[in-house]
Amino acid sequence: MQGHPLVYLDNAATTQKPSVVIDAVSRFYERENANIHRGVHYLSVQATDAYDRAREAVARRIGAFEPAEVVFVRGTTEAINLVARAFLAPQLKADDEILLTVMEHHANIVPWQRVAEETGARIVATPITATGEVDLAAFRELMNERTKMVAFTHISNALGTINPVAEMVAIAKERGLPVLVDGAQGVAHGPVDVAALGCDFYAFSGHKVYGPDGIGVLWGKKRLLDAMPPYQSGGDMVERVTFERSTYKRPPERFEAGTPNISGAIGLAVAFDYLRDTVGWETIVTRENTLREAAEAALAAIPGITIHGIGAHRRASVVSFSLEGVHPHDLGTILDSEGIAIRAGNHCAQPLMKVLGVAGTARASFAFYNSLEEVEQVAAAVMRTRGMFA
Ligand SMILES: Cc1ncc(COP(=O)(O)O)c(C=O)c1O
Repeated sequence: MQGHPLVYLDNAATTQKPSVVIDAVSRFYERENANIHRGVHYLSVQATDAYDRAREAVARRIGAFEPAEVVFVRGTTEAINLVARAFLAPQLKADDEILLTVMEHHANIVPWQRVAEETGARIVATPITATGEVDLAAFRELMNERTKMVAFTHISNALGTINPVAEMVAIAKERGLPVLVDGAQGVAHGPVDVAALGCDFYAFSGHKVYGPDGIGVLWGKKRLLDAMPPYQSGGDMVERVTFERSTYKRPPERFEAGTPNISGAIGLAVAFDYLRDTVGWETIVTRENTLREAAEAALAAIPGITIHGIGAHRRASVVSFSLEGVHPHDLGTILDSEGIAIRAGNHCAQPLMKVLGVAGTARASFAFYNSLEEVEQVAAAVMRTRGMFA
């Protein structure tokens, strides 16, 4: 890139795809392409089978009780919108509260805000501590009889903090509150078991977990999905249609109106198999921790650097930092000219940036395929940039 070998450190934005995933998507288009659920012909039956098998495989990988709990959507954003619209909006009233945290991505703020605005409900945001962790005492205290929904991220995309999800869910459950976990970053850094987390909904995107774009999952407890009205409507989600009224299929089909991303679902299932069986979660976790620790040490040694959230007890391989006197965009642009891709900006977390007192940060996020040499390269490039602005 820019005449240099690419150093890709923007994995929290999206991951690069293993060839098994690319091959599975191409194979579908080359040999199996047909629309699902609509044909009696051979290819359509094959495509439907492949789509159903993908759902079963994803359900197994995330600890779902049954495949019907896995709704294929476009990504985390659509999953959260679906829950805000179809689960929360019908029961929300004026003065009700939706409890979030200040470290949320806009995707886990704005959908709630929109339904709140329509009903006169409001958003309440749990603060974080100086170490970049959710203030659990405040989280507990902020729940009251007005609270109708609790939603928070598994892992912060802007700080790297891994939240104590099971503990937070347990706190919400003491009050019988429904909980959605934004798993956009959570799925990529370790195996997820939704049953063990105890939440009601878990949302994630395929592209952040080495799968294709435009596919994601809303996992939801069957009993809750069953009681929810459709989100979008059209073909494939209906049983009977007359001009007077229509009846709807049961979940997951009820929430999958129109032709879904068939190849995306197939690719996502392959990505999960690859992570578990080919690379192995243990290898991924160990390697990412090694890279993060090395990056934190190398960057912390540079004068004028602040690493945000470095005090958090559990951190994923996301290192967000500010360099005194250098705008994160300048840093990002200079590093890019050396072939190093990092992210610079507010990371779709403007409320968090306000709390941190910065306009944005520079963020290097590591995947298991990155190397210690790349860690050294990014640290050296940041050091050189500092020299240029001195
Ligand atoms: C924590 C978090 N939530 C939600 C999203 C939104 O994901 P998508 O754009 O794939 O819907 C992201 C993407 O960066 C994220 O990091």
